[in-house]
Amino acid sequence: TNAPIPTPRGLPIVGNGLQVPVEGTHQFFADLAARHPGGLFKLNMAGRHVVLVYDPDLVTEVCDESRFYKPIDPPLAHVRDFAGDGLFTARQEEPAWGQAHRILLPAFSQRSMKAYFPQMLEVAEDLVAAWDGKTDVDVTDDMTRLTLDTIALAGFGQRFKSFEQPELHPFLQAMGNALTEAMDRTRQLPVVTGLKRRADAAYRADISIMQATVDEVIRARRQTNDKSRDLLGLMLDATDPLTGERLSDENIRNQVLTFLIAGHETTSGTLSFALHHLMRNPHVLAQAYAEVDRMLPGDTEPTYETIMKLDVIPRILDETLRLHSPITAIGLAAREDTTLGGRYAIPANQKIAVLMKPLHTHPSAWTDPETFDIDRWLPEAKATHHPHAYKPFGNGERACIGRQFALTEARLALALILRRFVISDPQGHQLNIKQTLTIKPQEFTLRIRPRQDHQ
Ligand code: HEM
Repeated sequence: TNAPIPTPRGLPIVGNGLQVPVEGTHQFFADLAARHPGGLFKLNMAGRHVVLVYDPDLVTEVCDESRFYKPIDPPLAHVRDFAGDGLFTARQEEPAWGQAHRILLPAFSQRSMKAYFPQMLEVAEDLVAAWDGKTDVDVTDDMTRLTLDTIALAGFGQRFKSFEQPELHPFLQAMGNALTEAMDRTRQLPVVTGLKRRADAAYRADISIMQATVDEVIRARRQTNDKSRDLLGLMLDATDPLTGERLSDENIRNQVLTFLIAGHETTSGTLSFALHHLMRNPHVLAQAYAEVDRMLPGDTEPTYETIMKLDVIPRILDETLRLHSPITAIGLAAREDTTLGGRYAIPANQKIAVLMKPLHTHPSAWTDPETFDIDRWLPEAKATHHPHAYKPFGNGERACIGRQFALTEARLALALILRRFVISDPQGHQLNIKQTLTIKPQEFTLRIRPRQDHQ
């Protein structure tokens, strides 16, 4: 019963490492997945062997947390250079992960989403105001402004006011560079990384810029008497219900940096891809317009309750995350020697990556997998889904803590955009995806005009 795992041919020593292109690794993996219909294959990336899995039944097995865990390997081991033991890059066995997880979980409950709603609304209104009078908008940049300002305000009480700046916040350039470097290092032999002195100096400088932003956020809070129970308030004051311990200053710094990155990058990609899909699917766009006109007529103040009652817009987001999951893979590893699918031997600590796009379009779980169809997310259709064929927010205990935050923010932003603007794509843009740790459309411009002209 011991079947070999299919392996594309590579080069000596570097294996398949150099075949993995710098731009668009997600596409490279998706193409390989299409050529390996068995649902898994194995790569040698500069000596690190990784098993890539996307068959929904095999994914069901690797999502069993009693058999597999989230290892902190490259690229996340490199992201640790700046995110340290923050939630995203902490090792499960580090006490800091459990402490921060328990302290912060209440900050992501439904009740907390309601508490953040006024801040989410304030920033979404900044976006609408910034678009007022414009004809062409840079979608990806403005979605990034929106989501960065939202996590900074709702999480840490800081107004970044990104819509008032012609350039994106310096944090973002530094973050983009550092994430790209972390990904490059994943493809390099460590000896090569060691030789690249200039890249290393630039990397350290970018990390300092990000840390300066974080230190300013923490300093600003410590200077005031602000007793908000937002993310920062909890981190500074709360004790872990299990151990009674507080988070260390170093850990708080790592968490703030983690949330500034994890709290905006993926949500902005999701919103940008959602607008892309709406341009390609006019009948869905029409349904979305009808929904906002029904639920938020005229100048009705959007409330948390109204946003929670939306139906079309949430399904647009679900379907967008199926076809364009900003996090293109999650890493896992076997706790002990085991077998996958009853026949593939997996040694203890073997690195595994679940590939989102090949999973989310796997023909055994999805009909017409490439079609953007929001009706897959109607309750009766959803009840028939394969239980492990959709993982845009990851898996188990290490799944995304910010899922509800992201979805609330994204629903509100789409609703406010569609209420105010007719969006169109006269140039018929070609989707051009940029990948750092996550994927986003790049050079994505849309034409807008006020809805009143239209009605
Ligand atoms: C973890 C996706 C938004 C904070 C994750 C993971 C995924 C993910 C796939 C697991 C990564 C892994 O297994 O290595 C997304 C997507 C989002 C989103 C698709 C938007 C649509 C957010 C937001 C926040 C956030 C808004 C914060 C406000 C985090 C954190 C973790 C995480 C802290 C690490 C959790 C842990 O390991 O304890 N996210 N995320 N994410 N996400 Fe998100």
